[in-house]
Amino acid sequence: MESAIKKMLDRAREVALTLLKQEEVLVVTHIDADGLTAGSIALQALQRAGIESDIMFLKQLDAQAIEEIADKNVFTWFTDLGSGQLDLIAEKKIECVITDHHVPQGHYKLQLNPHDFGIDGSHELSGSAATYLVARSMGLNYDLVSLAMVGAVGDLQDSKHGKLIGVNREILKEAIKGGFVDAVRDIRLFGKQTRPVLKMLEYTYDPYLPGISGNERGAIEFLEGLGIPLKNGSWRRWIDLSQEEKRAIVSELVRLCIQAGYSVSTIKRLVGETYILLNEEEGTELRDAMEFSTLLNATARYGHEDIGLAVCLGDRCTAFRKARTLLQNHRRNLSEGIKLVDEIGIEELENIQYFHAEDRILDTIVGIVAGMCFTKANLKKPIIAFANNGKGIKVSARATQRLVEKGVHLAKALHAVAEKVGGKGGGHNIAAGATIPVGTETEFLKHLDRVIGEQLGHSQKVNLSSNH
Ligand code: C5P
Ligand code: C5P
Ligand code: ZN
Repeated sequence: MESAIKKMLDRAREVALTLLKQEEVLVVTHIDADGLTAGSIALQALQRAGIESDIMFLKQLDAQAIEEIADKNVFTWFTDLGSGQLDLIAEKKIECVITDHHVPQGHYKLQLNPHDFGIDGSHELSGSAATYLVARSMGLNYDLVSLAMVGAVGDLQDSKHGKLIGVNREILKEAIKGGFVDAVRDIRLFGKQTRPVLKMLEYTYDPYLPGISGNERGAIEFLEGLGIPLKNGSWRRWIDLSQEEKRAIVSELVRLCIQAGYSVSTIKRLVGETYILLNEEEGTELRDAMEFSTLLNATARYGHEDIGLAVCLGDRCTAFRKARTLLQNHRRNLSEGIKLVDEIGIEELENIQYFHAEDRILDTIVGIVAGMCFTKANLKKPIIAFANNGKGIKVSARATQRLVEKGVHLAKALHAVAEKVGGKGGGHNIAAGATIPVGTETEFLKHLDRVIGEQLGHSQKVNLSSNH
């Protein structure tokens, strides 16, 4: 691992040197928390180096977007995307560097991607952290490490072990040493800094808390049952509780989850490392990496990337206020999305399960909803979600760590199957996405069910038994 990191740092330096030679650079990035933080790290590193720069946000790097970028004829820095579209970038001869962590479809000498160094891009290095590795080779950019950690948490890179691992962890150590971030063992739920505890519990869907998730009365009774006052003048937040109260809540949640038959790994994820941004004010969304990243998702995934970007660049007034309003809207959409899935139900095929949200869940958040529905659904099969988007059908897929260990690789599966039906897909082993033509969903599901079966070795078993 050490030598892999060393090789990566060499590549980061090469990429940084190339960037420093440019007079003008266009940063092109993804619209989620990891993309926003990656893009804002890149933009700040360029500005500090005196390089003229601009930024462009994309839902997806497709042929049309690549055409648009090629037309600009400016040196480009792709962050948190690009590796899956190397063929299109080469075809249009776009001069560029790439800092990404999606499964690469090919090689490129100015690409910093963990997969090229045998490092897992879904847990060990986020797009933002890969971008930070280049930024720190461009000058005195150590303060940007906080954004790198927010992006990593936003991509759920800490979900496997309840803490950041791999290269992310090495970067975290730097962040702690520099006094930018603290890692604290605590409950890993959203809203510890800002929400009344009862709301924090009520709005938790991952894991789904039996009797509490989506149920205000249930959340109140849960807390009252433990003798925990809901108010002390104002509503009490998690950070206002005593250690004993926190411990009582955690033990009771663990008991409820055991009773509901959840797997050990799901239950273990309740508690783990959480990341505090020491330069942010306590009691704000920005203090906790998980809340910060959700705040960012609430902006760019709804077309308000300018607001998310401004917050990343340090705005704590107007943009921050607007982002908080958008966050309320995002939380509402997520909880309505989950209720919708409850209503329409999840269909099971042999090796996968799916739902089709049509126009009722935004294509940019349907993947988050699918991930949140997972603990309540069958964890033995990857979950596939469809939603309409103007250009076709958006597909989002999520697996569990256990399924990945058994051979599931969603990026490979979605890439291959989307291509078969005339679409495009990619991503990570545990989470991937695609866009496919309208009307090809049934065919897509049929092929995907077979491919996932093959990844799990099911077809081999069939072959072996049919040899007898
Ligand atoms: O494009 P990008 O890599 O930023 O998107 C990653 C997506 O995959 C996020 O929505 C995240 O929720 C999901 N993911 C996941 N589990 C992981 C890594 C990523 O669900 N271990
Ligand atoms: O949109 P969603 O959160 O489901 O995306 C999951 C992962 O799949 C992300 O890493 C995203 O970048 C990737 N993806 C992709 N190609 C698409 C759609 C999503 O590589 N057409
Ligand atoms: Zn990412």
